[in-house]
Amino acid sequence: MDRPSGTTGLGMSTVATNGSAVAGYTPGPLDRDAPFYVAGHRGLVGSAIWRQLKASGFSDLIGRSSSELDLKDRDAVFAFFEETKPKTVVLAAAKVGGILANSTYPVDFLSDNLRIQVNVLDAALAQNVQRVLFLGSSCIYPKLAPQPIKEEYLLTGHLEPTNDAYAIAKIAGILQIQSVRKQYGLPWISAMPTNLYGPGDNFSPKGSHVLPALIRRYDEARRDGLDTVTNWGSGSPRREFLHVDDMAAACIHLLENYDGPEQVNVGTGEDATIKEIASIVASAVGFEGKTEWDTTKPDGTPQKLLDVNRLRNAGWKPRTSLPDGIASTVSWYRNNFTTLRI
Ligand SMILES: NC(=O)c1ccc[n+]([C@@H]2O[C@H](COP(=O)([O-])OP(=O)(O)OC[C@H]3O[C@@H](n4cnc5c(N)ncnc54)[C@H](OP(=O)(O)O)[C@@H]3O)[C@@H](O)[C@H]2O)c1
Repeated sequence: MDRPSGTTGLGMSTVATNGSAVAGYTPGPLDRDAPFYVAGHRGLVGSAIWRQLKASGFSDLIGRSSSELDLKDRDAVFAFFEETKPKTVVLAAAKVGGILANSTYPVDFLSDNLRIQVNVLDAALAQNVQRVLFLGSSCIYPKLAPQPIKEEYLLTGHLEPTNDAYAIAKIAGILQIQSVRKQYGLPWISAMPTNLYGPGDNFSPKGSHVLPALIRRYDEARRDGLDTVTNWGSGSPRREFLHVDDMAAACIHLLENYDGPEQVNVGTGEDATIKEIASIVASAVGFEGKTEWDTTKPDGTPQKLLDVNRLRNAGWKPRTSLPDGIASTVSWYRNNFTTLRI
């Protein structure tokens, strides 16, 4: 790979030692008036970060839709960074999807995500961007990792095969962040969110994750006056969900308070069975019928829960309870029904 131009004469030449903070750097409040680029600012995570940055007084936010700037286009990405010169970057742009999309289009999930992140991170390096936060996903961890999943379990076992292409791209991103720290001494960091939900989510029947899919299914059943909703599997797997506004708050908190080469898990540290989650959704939408479970369909991993001690030690914890978060997401879904992503 060509070395990104403009990387000589970095302000911080001290090379970070493995496993430690970058020498000479202490995290602190970000400059509210400096240019801040949110890559993927129209997505679930990016739009939540954008809202929160605005609310916190950031005055120079930069965002481009994929039709304005295709992050797979390396020359365009370099030109954009040269023109806008951001001081802080959050990389929340990615090709994202549920199990079906991931297992049907693995090449797209690998190739698009590698290109997006390599282009953005190389261009950020070329412009000597001080603070970069790279977002991955909890699917980077081994399929059979002990629960709750600690950050150090990365690369200790086989990945879940239905999304291994996506996971490998995200693992490469973590390595790129760590390598920039080592080679150039820039205090870049990465965070691995658990399952997220909230306003701006993808409710499309083909591409959505489990929680928005449940909201859509139960709300349609209520609207159509159905007696029964049938969900896949036994309902016994345990999953963790974080409201995206909490995720956005965690991202800003990490940028202002954390420095370290290892990725930080971002979650609530609490899980619930899919059955419990389905029941919260059913009551949030007002569905009064029965729920049946199609046990001929696969359950997936029995539990997926992140260990969030590193995040807690960095001084952050979530605020939104699952019932409150689901209720407000149902309102958002109904209010935005005509403009949802398909
Ligand atoms: N959703 C979750 O439950 C979850 C969980 C864990 C981790 N994450 C991570 O969080 C990050 C963001 O996920 P999300 O849920 O917010 O996804 P999302 O809602 O699908 O948003 C993705 C964003 O990426 C942008 N994008 C995609 N391809 C692009 C391209 N070629 N050029 C420019 N922009 C492009 C899209 O821009 P346009 O809208 O302009 O097309 C969109 O705004 C991802 O790294 C994901 O792995 C998400």
